[in-house]
Amino acid sequence: MFKILEKTQYSENVYKFRVHAPQMAKHAHAGQFLMVRANETGERVPFTFADWNAEEGWIEFIFMVIGKTTTDLSQLNAGDEIADVVGPLGKPTEMDNGSWCVIGGGVGLAIAYPVARALCAQGAKVRVIMGARTKDLLLLEDQFRELPLENLYITTDDGSYGEKGVVTQPLERLCIDHEIEHVFAVGPVPMMKFSALTCAKYDMPIIASLNPIMVDGTGMCGCCRVEVDGKTKFACVDGPDFDATKVNWADLSARQASYRAEEATAMEHRRETCACQS
Ligand SMILES: Cc1cc2nc3c(=O)[nH]c(=O)nc-3n(C[C@H](O)[C@H](O)[C@H](O)COP(=O)(O)OP(=O)(O)OC[C@H]3O[C@@H](n4cnc5c(N)ncnc54)[C@H](O)[C@@H]3O)c2cc1C
Ligand code: FES
Repeated sequence: MFKILEKTQYSENVYKFRVHAPQMAKHAHAGQFLMVRANETGERVPFTFADWNAEEGWIEFIFMVIGKTTTDLSQLNAGDEIADVVGPLGKPTEMDNGSWCVIGGGVGLAIAYPVARALCAQGAKVRVIMGARTKDLLLLEDQFRELPLENLYITTDDGSYGEKGVVTQPLERLCIDHEIEHVFAVGPVPMMKFSALTCAKYDMPIIASLNPIMVDGTGMCGCCRVEVDGKTKFACVDGPDFDATKVNWADLSARQASYRAEEATAMEHRRETCACQS
């Protein structure tokens, strides 16, 4: 069992947990993830390390409530215990020094933040593009603003905050102005796909952190398989970062949607059986 040391609520649906996990804290790197099982009967779901402290023996992850497991987790509090936390898993993000554009869309901002922070810490020049459907879904703006960034760009689909439109607009300007040398993108599949297409136009290298459904997180089940450059890869052990210009996005999209009916049923069942469900 893993004790929750702190719970922070960022917005209606977004939380950060600090969890006692001394061994994991010693080995975590930016871009890696952990598998969490909220309770004895729960499924395992992946979250990216948001922060960790080897001396104090804790790790942190940030999550958005979107279904059953994240709802279960959101109802735990500091002092409660999580049944399982396993990690670090996956390969760390490869980070050259130089000039980077880090793009996060929606809940992907929780994954983009530790990457941007690690790049800043190693002395890279970092520009961040934050994208969301609407202002209320924009995560971690204050935390990004505390980083020593070259610039921060915000886009919202509905124009409720920042530039009206999508992340590829500032990305394309940065490519045209030769202000960046590398791009890291994480978020919804269409956002990563169109960021890859934009970068391909300008021969700009782009890494995407892929988010297929994962079950074991250790390369055993095959659930997280993705097609990259015509070859099958397992995102949990070969990734989650891949060359975004070589990813088969249609395949990833289809695989992500494989369990929509079961996910809806699980939420419905939870509503009917759990008195604590808000
Ligand atoms: C490597 C990786 C890192 C991630 N990091 C974060 C993070 O830092 N913060 C965050 O909020 N989210 C992160 N996610 C997504 C997170 O795992 C899903 O939001 C979570 O699993 C949803 O579970 P649920 O039961 O609440 O929702 P469900 O209703 O079960 O599912 C909603 C959607 O979440 C995704 N999902 C569901 N189960 C899984 C699973 N086992 N593995 C992967 N995706 C799943 C699917 O797209 C699904 O349609 C990450 C995903 C991956 C693959
Ligand atoms: S999650 Fe099972 S092989 Fe990757």
